[in-house]
Amino acid sequence: MFDALTRQPDDPLLALIGLFRADERAGKVDLGVGVYRDETGATPIFRAVKEAERRLVETQPTKAYVGPEGDPVFLDRLWALTTGEAGKGRATAALQTPGGSGALRLAADLMARMGTKGIWLGLPSWPNHASIFKAAGLEVITYPFFDIPSQAVLFDRMMEALAGAAPGDAVLLHASCHNPTGANLSADQWRAVSDLIAEKGLLPLVDIAYQGYGRGLDEDAAGLRTLLSTVPEALVSVSCSKSFGLYRERTGAIYAVCGNPDTALSVRSNLAALARTSYSMPPDHGAAIVSTILGDAALAADWKAEIETMRLRITAIRERLAAGLSARWQVLTAIREQEGMFSLLPLEEANVLKLRAEHAIYMPTSGRINIAGLKTAEVDAVIEKFLSL
Ligand code: LMR
Repeated sequence: MFDALTRQPDDPLLALIGLFRADERAGKVDLGVGVYRDETGATPIFRAVKEAERRLVETQPTKAYVGPEGDPVFLDRLWALTTGEAGKGRATAALQTPGGSGALRLAADLMARMGTKGIWLGLPSWPNHASIFKAAGLEVITYPFFDIPSQAVLFDRMMEALAGAAPGDAVLLHASCHNPTGANLSADQWRAVSDLIAEKGLLPLVDIAYQGYGRGLDEDAAGLRTLLSTVPEALVSVSCSKSFGLYRERTGAIYAVCGNPDTALSVRSNLAALARTSYSMPPDHGAAIVSTILGDAALAADWKAEIETMRLRITAIRERLAAGLSARWQVLTAIREQEGMFSLLPLEEANVLKLRAEHAIYMPTSGRINIAGLKTAEVDAVIEKFLSL
């Protein structure tokens, strides 16, 4: 019976993890999956996470189910971190989810249930966005967001495309640290797109997965906050994978900002029903860690200080890369202005494969690089390999 299935290709991004691991060459460089690494190449556990885990081991009274919605305290604290004043007092339905991907899938299932037909997706985007929306039965409508050769955001074309959206269509927006380009909207552009979304009656779905790695914790949520202050309804998908370094704990949340508390209750019941027929109830360890950190001033301050050092490390590597690579690609001075873990280089697939085969430098064939995968000591050598292409 299983013969009815055809073999599926590996996810190209996740396959890189295995390919890199299997490579035995010394000095191999992993610019693949979006995971933060320090100067030793390790993905450290935040000090505050370790401390929160220690406290949980000592004090957590039970491992009984938390219920389909997850822990409301975690949800409130994460919402405050993400949306600040802009999220206060809004009628919001919230569910703890298995990572940001779980949140996006629940959002997509909810939209399919509501009868949302199309979701507008700027290209390029994280490859799994389109896959998740299509799997939920939504129509994905794409528009150009970023021009790789000139490294420019195509804001006018984005606005033109969205002006043609039908009322009730959804629009996916990256809050900051755009994946895969690192390019972001300015404050004015956020205001303009927020106004357009409100005017046209579109439903924004904002994906925030790298808060703290771009310009700072509040700065990375500023566009989202502008949007929330402008629109009556929105979906916000939050991932704690990177911001709290909890990748494998699968920690995230989906929030639906609604017009009134009754609607929020209805939306929450639908999200819970969708979760029930999928994974039933969310994992809790990561959420318990995040809640412990955000509920303790000293732990929160330590977490903020640590993520700030990570952010500054990425910014310093960006400077070096921009200076080095612009010797060949003048346009790559843009890497300095871009933010977060990723930039998208104007590379042919053949060159990406050549870097992998000849120099053990790993990145997806799109040309995306995870800047947080570079150690300062290896930046010059990596630049040289790029320049030799
Ligand atoms: C990435 O884009 O590298 C990360 O978001 C990891 C993933 O799930 O693809």
